[in-house]
Amino acid sequence: MEKMKRPTAANLRRIHRKGRGDAVNEEKDAVIIAVFGSKGGAGKTTVAVNVATVLAQKGKRTALLDFDLQFGDASIFLDLENKHGISELVQEGSITKEIVRSYLSLHKTGLSLLPSSERPEYAEMVQSSHGERIISGIAKGYDFVFIDLSTQMNDLSLMALEKADKILHVINPDISTLRNAKKTHELMKALKLDHKIQVVLNKENSSTITAKEIAGLMNIKFLAKIPVEGKHAVASLNRGIPVVINVPRCPMSKKLIDLATKIGEGNYGSTGEA
Ligand SMILES: Nc1ncnc2c1ncn2[C@@H]1O[C@H](COP(=O)(O)OP(=O)(O)O)[C@@H](O)[C@H]1O
Ligand SMILES: [Mg+2]
Repeated sequence: MEKMKRPTAANLRRIHRKGRGDAVNEEKDAVIIAVFGSKGGAGKTTVAVNVATVLAQKGKRTALLDFDLQFGDASIFLDLENKHGISELVQEGSITKEIVRSYLSLHKTGLSLLPSSERPEYAEMVQSSHGERIISGIAKGYDFVFIDLSTQMNDLSLMALEKADKILHVINPDISTLRNAKKTHELMKALKLDHKIQVVLNKENSSTITAKEIAGLMNIKFLAKIPVEGKHAVASLNRGIPVVINVPRCPMSKKLIDLATKIGEGNYGSTGEA
């Protein structure tokens, strides 16, 4: 007999899903993955866009929500329109599944993007209750929903972290990021969200601090370690083509593809040595 699991929302959803079987595939809730990091430029959008792209390429029904409302740029990474996004969506009378879906932009890989907005000044109109309805509107009928978050711990991001099945915490090997990461982990612990955290070390070889030292310092293991790839990462962003498509064989893409494969299989084992 299966061991009793903690009665978290995610576990209840999983148990509920099991009972219904696969025949009602359309009604399944997606695995929700929030991508968070306390420092701008850490690589949250890079990780979210590329991992989501790979899963879409593999035939998984995948959506990406750009919850970095003021300066979200997922649409630039994917060369998609950003004109009508979340800030415009919340001005609709009600946020139904149909309305949410009408705001999605489709990438040629099959990935659906809900952009943020072209208008940073509209961001304050978006409340966490709106975000919650957007997530509920999109969760059914997708296999994976990624939420690209801003660096701020506001009501909207806290709600997204609550709703998420997994939180990908993107960090870099520099002291200021690591100090913030430690604070973030303490806060997540206080909020009882720490069991969802999976750490992704991005730009791994960009400093003298090694992955092993970071793992020891923070008492963590990494789900993925992604090397710095200056030329290809920025060139891909400038062309609006995810690096995993633009240069699939470079070391950075290989690690992002490995990460997507793990997530696709629900395998959250660490990378090994640290
Ligand atoms: N592993 C990497 N190697 C080199 N450049 C990277 C890497 N990851 C991200 N970048 C670059 O760093 C910049 C910031 O990345 P981004 O994903 O926008 O960060 P965030 O969303 O956390 O603010 C972008 O120019 C991106 O192309
Ligand atoms: Mg970003």
